[in-house]
Amino acid sequence: MTTIADITAADHADMLGAIRSLPSQFRVGRDAAAIRREAIAARTASSPGALVVCGMGGSGVGADLLPAVFDTDVPVVGVKGYDLPSWVNEQDMVVCVSYSGNTAETLSCFAQANDSHHVTAAVITSGGKLAELAQQAEVPWVEVPGGLQPRAATGVLFGALATVASACGAVGGSDHVDDVLDECAKGVQTVVDQHPVDVDPTTLPGLVAARDLAGCVVVIYGAGATAPVAWRWKAQVNENGKLPAFANSYPELDHNEIVGWTRFAETGAKVGVVELLPPDASEAVRARFDITKDLIGESASVVLRYEATSQSKPAALFELLAHGDFVSAYLALDAGIDPSPVDRIESLKERLGGR
Ligand code: PA5
Repeated sequence: MTTIADITAADHADMLGAIRSLPSQFRVGRDAAAIRREAIAARTASSPGALVVCGMGGSGVGADLLPAVFDTDVPVVGVKGYDLPSWVNEQDMVVCVSYSGNTAETLSCFAQANDSHHVTAAVITSGGKLAELAQQAEVPWVEVPGGLQPRAATGVLFGALATVASACGAVGGSDHVDDVLDECAKGVQTVVDQHPVDVDPTTLPGLVAARDLAGCVVVIYGAGATAPVAWRWKAQVNENGKLPAFANSYPELDHNEIVGWTRFAETGAKVGVVELLPPDASEAVRARFDITKDLIGESASVVLRYEATSQSKPAALFELLAHGDFVSAYLALDAGIDPSPVDRIESLKERLGGR
């Protein structure tokens, strides 16, 4: 019989512990940003244009989640690359997020925002070059605690980003943000509670799903607010699970990807599909999930559907996100692989030499 010790043996850097700490992380991030609130607000234009959030990988996911979780007062645009969009001007606010503070793309965006446009609201980082540059330029540095994998610090980074966004006038006042962050924490907690450390591991929903998906290319489908959660699942299956995964969203996938499944058998691949129903799914969206599953379902080895039990949208989205965190960690651990190291990313960054 598989024991919990067998499952966690490869978890040398305690990824499961980091996932379990997610509910408490939101307030840590909120507090780190709250002490910079006035400095950030002082840099904001009286009527801010867009909020531009620059960040890669685990540090970039907040840019996608922010407009899904909050009803934002201004457009929020995520930048996952070296360059700011050409339209960015003094009315806009740029936030640069890099957990390590040493990611080349984010440093490049910081340089562009700060040197050319003077619109940098804040940086969110545990240190590194980004902290150094922010201090030199007197840009508020929201200092988050280090020591985790960036993607395992999602609660901290999201709490910090939401608080910075509030200081910039993008998502409502601090009380509202605190309430929403508490909801996010509750949503994660419902999933943490389903993964106690002292039970027969084969009853853990994350492990059960990981075993269903074992050996599969994982394809994750969301819709509306769950589109960025699907993307997060994909990145977690990639980085924690070290497996190929792809994400797409309804209704767009019904206009192209659904046809691509027609000749699926010729690929010889084994695919597991994960469906993330949005909390506010309309009848039309629900029908799309059902009919598409009918049309493609027999090609997939397994189709797993997730529907949140949490009532509020923030809680529901983070509930679905947390399922992906557990499943991705168990995908690695059940194969005897440590979910934490991302050697490919490290060696790529090294070979790029800071470019
Ligand atoms: O989670 C990870 O390890 C990666 O996705 C990183 O977040 C990504 O490489 C960017 O690094 P950083 O978050 O330090 O800017």
